Amino acid sequence: MNRSLSLAGALALTAAAGLAWLRTPAPEPLPAVTVWKSPTCGCCGHWIEHLRSAGFTVTAHDTDDLPRITTSHGVADNLVSCHVAVVGGYVIEGHVPADLIQRLLTQHPPHVAGLSVPGMVPGSPGMENGAKQPYEVIAWDSAGKTSVFAKR
Ligand code: CU
Ligand code: CU
Repeated sequence: MNRSLSLAGALALTAAAGLAWLRTPAPEPLPAVTVWKSPTCGCCGHWIEHLRSAGFTVTAHDTDDLPRITTSHGVADNLVSCHVAVVGGYVIEGHVPADLIQRLLTQHPPHVAGLSVPGMVPGSPGMENGAKQPYEVIAWDSAGKTSVFAKR
């Protein structure tokens, strides 16, 4: 009797554990990243490696017409850096850390069209050479309004 009770208990526990497992959402696969960069840009390549080691699949295109491609993606002049990327419908400009792209993709903050680290900040991902400097990751919306998404 004791034995069958404990067996029933074990079965119930197993069933509960199974249900809990079913309720845990599977992590969504990361969407693919497309990058445009100048053929001579070394730090762009390092940033791409940073994304790949964070689990992103990256396709990179070399272009001699980067300013036009950057502008056509809605990046304002004061937000420009050395490469532009598209992921999950968002525009990513410059050396934006991969974890912030993941945050953007999971949180979908309202009105955000893209993220930028303007310029080329030493210490940002892909710019590890040189003394680290603090920087802001800027979000912009479709109307061009900017806000600080994160500080690093
Ligand atoms: Cu760069
Ligand atoms: Cu770059």
